[in-house]
Amino acid sequence: MNATLPEIAVDAARVVAELKKLATFSAEAEVPAGLPEPTTAVSRVVFTEPDLAMRAWFTGLCEEAGLTVRVDPMGNTFARWGDPAASGAVGTGSHNDAIPHSGMYDGTVGVLGGLEAIRALQRAGFVPVRPIELVMFTSEEPTRFGLGCSGSRVMTGAMEAAEVAALTDPEGRSFDDVRRAAGFSGDLADARLAPDHFHAFVELHTEQGPLLEREGLDIGIVTAIAAPLAAEFEVLGAGGHAGAVLMPDRHDALCAAAEMVLAIEAAAKSSGAVDTVTTVGEFTPHPGHGNSIANRVRFTLDLRDTDGDRRDAAWAKIRDGIDAICARRGVTATHRVLNADPPAACYPLVVDAVADAAAGLTTKRTISRAYHDSLFMARVCPTGMIFIPCRGGVSHRPDEFASESAIGHGVLVLARTLARLATST
Ligand code: GLV
Ligand code: MN
Ligand code: MN
Repeated sequence: MNATLPEIAVDAARVVAELKKLATFSAEAEVPAGLPEPTTAVSRVVFTEPDLAMRAWFTGLCEEAGLTVRVDPMGNTFARWGDPAASGAVGTGSHNDAIPHSGMYDGTVGVLGGLEAIRALQRAGFVPVRPIELVMFTSEEPTRFGLGCSGSRVMTGAMEAAEVAALTDPEGRSFDDVRRAAGFSGDLADARLAPDHFHAFVELHTEQGPLLEREGLDIGIVTAIAAPLAAEFEVLGAGGHAGAVLMPDRHDALCAAAEMVLAIEAAAKSSGAVDTVTTVGEFTPHPGHGNSIANRVRFTLDLRDTDGDRRDAAWAKIRDGIDAICARRGVTATHRVLNADPPAACYPLVVDAVADAAAGLTTKRTISRAYHDSLFMARVCPTGMIFIPCRGGVSHRPDEFASESAIGHGVLVLARTLARLATST
């Protein structure tokens, strides 16, 4: 590839050791029965104690590498190699928060791998023309406040800071109160990036799907990121006594909601594309007693597609289906859309740099079906992603695993990509 690039040696064993250390900053998370052992279940929810302990440790690692660390009012953490005041930096990074009962590689490979890419370039004697900046985004996962990519949404202006500030967690505490209590201060709106902050951005991540492993490939060169939609439903029916209310008289909210879940699944299956996917991951009946008919159910919807119009068509079909179920069963349903984002196209500048950087490795161009902070970074600067295979395509599970050699390949490609972008004009 780039003849002017020095020989880059990645210390993949160090990244794995740091990933293992990072996994120790975790809330107790039970490993479900039946998973391969040994398995570490990770749970690191934004602004909880493990998240804050992780941040302190990560900042120390960045400082050890001689990077200048800055934390914005959202808690997004920037670690820069180069002039702290210069614009047009080349960015990389991902997230270190983790959904409950998950694994130790989602997001973290891009954060610690990004740090190792910088250290490898430093060891190689590379001198970047543009600053290289590692970003650890706040709350890529929606676990606590229901909104994924909160940090990157505010950084990129995809969402108003005030909207994020007002989000509440299950205890009813606002994002703004929680982040202040966690020690993050300042006006959230100041987290918005200057338009010329980044020249380009590239994120390293596990594929979280099976294609690279199945095809025996080292690297996925991501060309687009699928469009996510998240919504929350409340179904209201009539509660009552499990023995005394006769079946013809029932308006059971749980039975209605169960039928809605199946209508949601059917909408994905009948879209005409395997790329339409739906998930109901939370389902809570009230009052939740064995001898009491549910009068209320809350459930969530996660709907995605690589094609934004097809995603929206599935969403319309889901709402029609739910209306029909309500009419037939004599219940009502309301919903709230938490986010409905368009898909993102990766930019040729970065896609080409990744392809070039992956010379000598086996690759394919691919689409990200998961969302990432890059979905929003793509709105403000040329953005791309590098995927590495993970075992069985498993993610959001404790047995998520990426091998040391896969991580090594990913970090090497990232380092070469950063080097190329940091010397381009
Ligand atoms: C990110 O974790 C996603 O759900 O795609
Ligand atoms: Mn995730
Ligand atoms: Mn992730």
